[in-house]
Amino acid sequence: MRNLLFLLILLSLSGCLMSNQNVINNLPYDESGGVSYSDQYRPQFHFTPKENWMNDPNGMVYYQGEYHLFYQYHPESTVWGPMHWGHAISKDLVHWEQFPIALYPDELGTIFSGSAVVDWNNTSGLGTTENPPLIAIYTYHSHELENIGRNDFQTQAIAYSLDKGRTWEKYSQNPVLPNPGIRDFRDPKVSWHEESQKWIMVLAQADHIGFYSSTNLIDWKLESTFGKEWGVHAGVWECPDLIKMPIEGTSEFKYALIVSINPGGPNGGSATQYFVGDFDGKTFTLTDDFKEDVKQVIGKDGIVESGVWLDYGTDNYAGVTFSDVPKNDGRVLFMAWMSNWQYANQVPTEAWRSAMTIPRSLKLDNSLSGLRITSQPVEELNKLVKNKQHHGNLTSEKKYELITASDSSKLYRLELDVVPLDANLIDLVFANQLGEKSILTIKVNEGVINFDRTHSGKVDFEQGFPSIQKALTTKNLLKYTLDIYVDHSSFEIFINNGKTVITSIVFPSIPYSNVSIEGNTIFNIDNLTISELKSIW
Ligand code: FRU
Repeated sequence: MRNLLFLLILLSLSGCLMSNQNVINNLPYDESGGVSYSDQYRPQFHFTPKENWMNDPNGMVYYQGEYHLFYQYHPESTVWGPMHWGHAISKDLVHWEQFPIALYPDELGTIFSGSAVVDWNNTSGLGTTENPPLIAIYTYHSHELENIGRNDFQTQAIAYSLDKGRTWEKYSQNPVLPNPGIRDFRDPKVSWHEESQKWIMVLAQADHIGFYSSTNLIDWKLESTFGKEWGVHAGVWECPDLIKMPIEGTSEFKYALIVSINPGGPNGGSATQYFVGDFDGKTFTLTDDFKEDVKQVIGKDGIVESGVWLDYGTDNYAGVTFSDVPKNDGRVLFMAWMSNWQYANQVPTEAWRSAMTIPRSLKLDNSLSGLRITSQPVEELNKLVKNKQHHGNLTSEKKYELITASDSSKLYRLELDVVPLDANLIDLVFANQLGEKSILTIKVNEGVINFDRTHSGKVDFEQGFPSIQKALTTKNLLKYTLDIYVDHSSFEIFINNGKTVITSIVFPSIPYSNVSIEGNTIFNIDNLTISELKSIW
């Protein structure tokens, strides 16, 4: 019996070593010389380009059964460079098919971030009402003008597609919005404003947002600006989005203005803040209650800024929402770049660089702290569940093993309610057999949740990467609901139905196959469910 046990241990050890070996030696290229999706660190249920550099999602629009994802893309290298719009299409928000590059640089510049809309009534005249054009609105960045020291090197332009986004024609009289002399003048996000029957463009203008209106997507008029005196300004403002959102449980709605900022995030580098208010087609006005949360005060050592963050994690940037999601669907669908300018160019991947987050559905909730955006993974992700185990409630222990190496899950979703009882420190530990680990700590008395990636795997490629990220939640709750998606190189942690979110990339040498949770004294777990997930590739 003992020998048998020994043999079993030996076998399982050698099995795990062999599989480690496979992962470690996995090259980004398959035998035929093509790119494989099984190279080390490659996310299995997140979008990554087959090869080369990617940053912001661009032009996300739904049309005729297809979700289009364009993205900042450098097809020649795995570091940032002359930007193109790469393109992928999904029918279900989960599986993506790569398409040829949609927009190439030209004599006006390289193609920076922007958005896309369906021009249903052919207001632009670039299609017909029978075949409405898809219009992409993007920023040209002229490196030539920048290099000769000018300030007006970023302009806004449009392109259109009459074949369901497959090919794009640039408008002959670009740019449609010249630069008034603002160095950072970019990332147009356009939406249709029903009440004023106009297109509204929000544009990042260094330290504030410009609001422009148009009846035809070609002629734009500045209506107002917002933001110099509000929110966080420790970095440049980028990638805004103006979203009309119903307030959950009421018949009212408000506008959320999302603004990415780099640097200045709550845990360093890039992050996304937001503001809640009203928009009348011309001006964005903060809701009174919200002013408290984003006001700047003159402190002893200068201005103290406060912000409200969409995600506390280090790796949710430049996210915006999909245009033209059908009314009968009604969701606000959001996706972001899962990286951070602080280290994006250095992360240890070979064939590709950067993934997108999983798509999320945003809601506006009237919470105890006021109006807040919650983020939740879209339910389409349930398609990926290969094996779902309900473990129910576990009680009165100091430590529980949730997943062990003998379970096959390497990609998983973990759902559980942590009921602290008297415990005030609870660590959820994700570890692999090499001793690398990422730790989520709930500090019940403080209302703080930390995510520690200091020993998560490969961390030494940038000095700030091995960090402990801090997120805020409510203290002393009777339970903390956790919904966690773990891919080969990321965590997406949704706390209390997405009221607090932590998105963080990590680079463990082999997947985290052990998950345990330990408190400083006994505590309970309710509704534990572990779902093993399939790869989308
Ligand atoms: C945000 C950003 C945008 C810009 C793009 C360039 O990550 O800096 O402001 O348009 O990336 O790639």
